[in-house]
Amino acid sequence: MPEENGNGGANGNGGANGNGSANGNGKERVGLLQRVKAGVQADVQALKTDIPTKAKEQMDGLKDPTKTQVYTSIFRHKHDDTPRNRALGILSNVFLHLHPAKINRDAVRYSYTWGMGGITFYLFIVLTFTGALLMFYYHPTKVQAFRDVLYLEHDVPFGKLLRNMHRWAAHLMVIGVWLHMFRVFLTGSYKKPREFNWNVGVILLVLTLLLSFTGYLLPDDQLGFWAVTVGTNMARATPGLGNEGPFGPQMGMTPYNDVRFGLLGGSIVDANALLRSYIWHCIGIPIVASIFMIVHFWRVRKDGGISGPAPVMLEAEGDKPRR
Ligand code: HEM
Repeated sequence: MPEENGNGGANGNGGANGNGSANGNGKERVGLLQRVKAGVQADVQALKTDIPTKAKEQMDGLKDPTKTQVYTSIFRHKHDDTPRNRALGILSNVFLHLHPAKINRDAVRYSYTWGMGGITFYLFIVLTFTGALLMFYYHPTKVQAFRDVLYLEHDVPFGKLLRNMHRWAAHLMVIGVWLHMFRVFLTGSYKKPREFNWNVGVILLVLTLLLSFTGYLLPDDQLGFWAVTVGTNMARATPGLGNEGPFGPQMGMTPYNDVRFGLLGGSIVDANALLRSYIWHCIGIPIVASIFMIVHFWRVRKDGGISGPAPVMLEAEGDKPRR
């Protein structure tokens, strides 16, 4: 209660200090009231000037949203087309920052790279996506596998499109990876310092071929069955690991414990082979390939970006400044 507080002994206004309580408290009250009044007046004055200023800011924000607090909390820099802003645009975006902020213009020309590494990667993404959708309709069993494929082709809405997208992307990925390797070879990009990445690439090539091979059996049709029969028969001749290969018998290999047996999960192409193909095709190889792709891309950057053509200058360009 303000009255009691003002009159208590604590503020020294009691009768003991000689000031009449009515006199001293009256002055205090007037002083306090004046200060409160002055404060309120100052607040009202401030509101009179602040409200229009704030309103103006809001209106300006509506005209130019890039100046609002919400916008600047999301986008940390301006989008003017300056070299600095373009670099910041790359560096401050979670997806774009995987790319270098600056690159050699000649190195990314399609006439130089053919875009084949990128196209191969794009096809891998398409395959992962369409493959995941196919998994909703497919069962890796001898009774159901081929029926599921027929069901997909003839009854599932867009099933034929889905299956053909997956098949064509698979064919194109194999072609793409070969062409990519061919261009890397033609441009000598396997040389120092890119020897390691060439080897990572060779592993990616093998994994791509294995993805195709394991996918081949899954429809459980005649084509896939005989392709896998021929392919796995070749595994019999693996040195040391196949029962018919060099040093195989010496290593104790028989048709019931060699590498072919391991691939098929038995000695004939049957239910176990289908299940093993399915697991390698949908889980094992894609995971391993993804890890190697991450290493491959990381290594392209660490090796100084895409190699780029050797600088060439025509005689006619001799005195012209280079771009
Ligand atoms: C799944 C397979 C593969 C993918 C997705 C892939 C992807 C890429 C990408 C995106 C690049 C950047 C330049 C470009 O697009 O040409 C690249 C560069 C490179 N790749 Fe691959 N690649 C694969 C397989 C291979 C293979 C089979 C080899 C060789 C055996 C290889 C060797 C290289 C080398 C040496 C570079 C650096 C080239 C340079 O700096 O000019 N890659 N790869």
